[in-house]
Amino acid sequence: MVKPIQQAAVIGSGVMGAAIAAHLAGAGIPCLLLDIVPTQLSEEEAKAGLTLEHPKVRSKLATTAIDRLKKTKPAPLYSEAFATRITPGNLDDDLHKLSKVDWIIEVIVERLDVKRQLLQRIEQVWTPGTIVSSNTSGISINEMVAPCGEAFKRHFLGTHFFNPPRYMKLLEVIPGQTTDPEITKYMTAFAEKRLGKGVVAAKDTPNFIANRIGTYGLLVTLHEMLQKGYTVEEIDAVTGPAMGRPKSATFRTLDLVGLDTFVHVAGNVHNNTMDESEKAIFDSPSVLRRMVEQGWIGEKQGQGFYKKVKTAAGKEI
Ligand code: NAI
Repeated sequence: MVKPIQQAAVIGSGVMGAAIAAHLAGAGIPCLLLDIVPTQLSEEEAKAGLTLEHPKVRSKLATTAIDRLKKTKPAPLYSEAFATRITPGNLDDDLHKLSKVDWIIEVIVERLDVKRQLLQRIEQVWTPGTIVSSNTSGISINEMVAPCGEAFKRHFLGTHFFNPPRYMKLLEVIPGQTTDPEITKYMTAFAEKRLGKGVVAAKDTPNFIANRIGTYGLLVTLHEMLQKGYTVEEIDAVTGPAMGRPKSATFRTLDLVGLDTFVHVAGNVHNNTMDESEKAIFDSPSVLRRMVEQGWIGEKQGQGFYKKVKTAAGKEI
């Protein structure tokens, strides 16, 4: 029996996790936001005499993510006051709290091995009836949950939100081979009625529907246009407002998504296709890989294809 969703937990407080928690908070669903425990102190923390054992340090990834929600534009929170519906924490100290929620959403790095490990950890405290879903951009739902037990597998599916989650209506719901149809049905109705989403049922194929098509377009642009000598600005000028997509020009989109995440998402099709021409397209160009190696991973780091700068009035553009 599925538990009606009254409380949720989001694991991973990065670009998508924090913003999904904000959307849930806006829909009146209190949620935990958990991330890993940092392994290093910042200079300020060390100066202030804090240690890695201090609760403030241990949950700082989620805490700072919630602070960031209040400053991000367009606003991920319907109202700043709703931030109090999100409780920050960390996976080591707060794992047991997952036994009390009705929906657990995994929103961590796009890597099969890391996601598998996390799901196995969640399973240790999971209670039957609790739905567990992944926000993966395209990793196989079946493979992700393969090491887990049968009951857990029946409660697991993909719920793929789009960036930014408050504003993008689309939600791909992806049942795996072992997902209980009742869970898929419940989640679809819940997402439509409570979260205001337009749900598309997707099959568990590499990158599902949207990222199969979307990443293809971005990669063709990257491979062909850069090679032909067009600039970032020229390509964005054509692939943005001029094509009726005010916010989604090629390089702006890559910066928003995160170049590190994009390389993983493209790699997922690259590694799972036998078609040589498709393999070549889904092989991220070296410029992208070099930028990731340098830490130029997009808006979340302040530098991607575009650099965030502060104006004289202190506004970030
Ligand atoms: P991100 O890199 O911004 O954040 C990932 C977060 O996961 C970080 O806070 C990191 O500390 C945490 N994390 C890493 N390993 C962890 C572990 N073992 N346990 C717990 N937390 C861990 O990534 P982003 O962009 O938020 O992506 C998360 C997921 O959402 C990925 O599966 C991605 O493919 C998917 N996604 C991303 C979109 C985007 O536009 N960035 C859009 C739709 C889906």
